[in-house]
Amino acid sequence: MRISLEDAAVRLRQGEVVAIPTETVYGLAADAMNDMALQKIFATKQRPADHPLIVHISDISHVTDWAAAFPEVAVKLGKAFWPGALTLILPAKPHVSRVLRGGEPTIALRVPNHPIALALLKLSQLSVAAPSANLFTQLSPTTVAHVEAGLGDSIPVLDGGACQVGIESTIVSVAADGQWLLLRPGMISEEDIARVAGRSQQENMAGRDKSLVEKAKPKAPGQHALHYSPHTPLSLFNDKASLTLACETLTKTGLKCAALLIGQGEQPSCTVAQLSNQPDEVAEKLYSALHQLDALKVDRLLVELPPNTPAWAAVVDRLNRAGYSGTVI
Ligand code: TXA
Ligand code: MG
Repeated sequence: MRISLEDAAVRLRQGEVVAIPTETVYGLAADAMNDMALQKIFATKQRPADHPLIVHISDISHVTDWAAAFPEVAVKLGKAFWPGALTLILPAKPHVSRVLRGGEPTIALRVPNHPIALALLKLSQLSVAAPSANLFTQLSPTTVAHVEAGLGDSIPVLDGGACQVGIESTIVSVAADGQWLLLRPGMISEEDIARVAGRSQQENMAGRDKSLVEKAKPKAPGQHALHYSPHTPLSLFNDKASLTLACETLTKTGLKCAALLIGQGEQPSCTVAQLSNQPDEVAEKLYSALHQLDALKVDRLLVELPPNTPAWAAVVDRLNRAGYSGTVI
């Protein structure tokens, strides 16, 4: 059910959930201060209670409403990348609801870079918790049609067009002492973070007891074995030749397949979605292409992995969570 900006603001204030656009993916939003509303997010998504939510704030001045510490490194990152596709995980203030934190001592914050999301935050005068607007472990939505296909037509949704970044935000945790850790790669890269933070993740870790660092690490996001996955079993290939071979093998055994290719080259003889060879463009179109191929209801999706270079880190991360390498059986 498509709703207006004004209606969305009223519904959020009344404790309802509303699907909203952001520049990364659509979010399933609710008032971050209302535990009953937050419970509706978990119920709608069928998400386990120990998976905390990201709070979307209208600007950097709201960080200290939620965070007990805002170290200099985090201030620099917020100033450099907000509004934008960066989520900062900071020590939480004691009043912050356990429902929101999923039991963690930290809080995840982001200023989204989407005019409609920002207008909604201003109009409602709320901070809104919003995970991606899909069922737990399934593909994230980047259009209203994806939201409706995943959560049903009755979900109230605010249409903001197709998401421009296309994959979820980069998540960086910053401890009270300024030490930072990349928890989920995104289109803001580890190198971008290191440049603004003034030191690399390795330099960050130097001299620290690794086992203590591991223990201190918050539960890594999206680490469920298959997280960003379509319904159709998905196999990953390092090149077009091995993908084409797998397609031939499957076809011989009477199974139907469809393929997602990165850049020009050899084409298998099944339905193909072809993306460019530019990381930004592939990220933007990735989930749409996977949603489209999934809707074909074939037996297997065959996906070509882009090169394993820093520019592709986020796309490779999502694909690795969506399927298995090289296996077609
Ligand atoms: O781009 C995005 O980040 C989108 C849009 C809607 O903002 N949101 C999003 O939310 O991807 P979600 O919930 O699907 O993924 C956020 C991840 C989850 O895996 C969650 O466990 C993790 O962030 N997370 C949230 N708060 C955390 C915390 N305090 N400590 C560790 N992980 C946290
Ligand atoms: Mg998600």
